[in-house]
Amino acid sequence: MKKVYIRTFGCQMNEKDSEIVLSLLQPDFVPTEEPESADLILINTCSVREKPQHKLYSEIGRFKELKKKKPELLIGVMGCVAQQEGERIVERYPYVDIVLGTQAFYQIRQAIERRLKEGKPFVWTELKPDFKPPLVLGSKKLRRVKAFVNIMQGCDNFCTYCIVPYVRGREVSRPPEDILREVEYLVKEEGVKEVALLGQNVNSYGLKEKSYGDFADLLERVSQIDGLLRIRFTTSHPKDLTERLMRVIAENPKVCKHIHLPLQAGSNKILKLMNRKYTREEYLAKVERLRELCPEIAITSDIIVGFPGETEKDFLQTLEMLERVRFHEVFSFKYSDRPFAAATNFQGKVPEEVKEERLKRVHEAQAKITAEVYHSYVGKEVEVLVEGRSERDENQLTGRTTTNVIVNFTAPRLDLEGELVKVLIESAGKHSLKGKYLSPSF
Ligand code: 5AD
Ligand code: SF4
Repeated sequence: MKKVYIRTFGCQMNEKDSEIVLSLLQPDFVPTEEPESADLILINTCSVREKPQHKLYSEIGRFKELKKKKPELLIGVMGCVAQQEGERIVERYPYVDIVLGTQAFYQIRQAIERRLKEGKPFVWTELKPDFKPPLVLGSKKLRRVKAFVNIMQGCDNFCTYCIVPYVRGREVSRPPEDILREVEYLVKEEGVKEVALLGQNVNSYGLKEKSYGDFADLLERVSQIDGLLRIRFTTSHPKDLTERLMRVIAENPKVCKHIHLPLQAGSNKILKLMNRKYTREEYLAKVERLRELCPEIAITSDIIVGFPGETEKDFLQTLEMLERVRFHEVFSFKYSDRPFAAATNFQGKVPEEVKEERLKRVHEAQAKITAEVYHSYVGKEVEVLVEGRSERDENQLTGRTTTNVIVNFTAPRLDLEGELVKVLIESAGKHSLKGKYLSPSF
């Protein structure tokens, strides 16, 4: 049996795509953690958050030596950078065998065949507007507590800083029947208790395909699957967060009380330049309504600092929003140009040192808020889905609250993986909580 090594950068969607590729390659290839022993090396790249070329190219360089020693080794590049760079990758790195775009990776088997038959690098980066991602089920061998499920592909929003619509194509929702079959499969065959439904903007699920129902309908349908304990979802665009969806989040016991709701910036001028289609006031109104319906909900967010045209005054409005909303956690990024994205041609680029300094201020302000929010859990009883042993301490268990906060805790038994338990929180750290087991949750 041959071996495949896969290195994944970027978001959860990329992680899921890597998993799909591994399923597609079975049973001919088994995964390995060591590139040295692999017959096929795949690099799944990201161009959304990181400077793409740097990461990819240093990674490819590492594998050149391996290929010299073992000429039959196949090297493939997939993901957003593959989509974006296509032929340029093999022009620059002739020892790369396969380049597969964000839709083409489903054809990994055919790509390997063609590479071997044609004896030259094979590049496939077609993006079809009516692409239908096939249903791919795994090998039944995995046992796991959590799994990702794609519910849609691509994005139609064209935020001006973002490369996603160009490298992942138009937004297409998967049929609910496929999604339900996949979740049922995961629950029955792999023992999964929690699924995270993935899309660039899950709130617009099904809006283009009327017979599918909307995202709130999908959550209700998925929640009816027996044996599934929790449903998470990401990412939500604030403009498409409806009253009905907020009610489902608040009222459906399987839907986790956490929403990742990227704000990006606190100034209306910058939000407009970003083409986000909401104002700070509208964002705040949605947060207020969400909390009215579901007081325990945790909200997390993404922030970009130093978008072109962002003044100190604009930036202070972002800091002010952090204070007002009090997110559980914030992922913050320095704005940087991306190929194709409209803002790349905007005036008023912010100097690197200013971006650096603003990023630091966001980190500091949010670290204080996160610490306070985490501290507010101390003394409370929370429900935790046990994921396994804690990495730091083999004698403790680890899991997450419905609000997506990591909890490490002591327990009289350590064989509780996959169960919902009640935990008393005794202390709060920077990135997790500590506590002790009280009882089973039901
Ligand atoms: N520069 C900086 N951050 C970006 N993001 C997306 N594109 C850019 C860019 N060009 C951030 C956004 C998004 C997250 C996934 O990455 O905050 O929500
Ligand atoms: Fe990018 Fe905006 Fe689409 Fe998110 S919603 S993927 S930020 S274009």
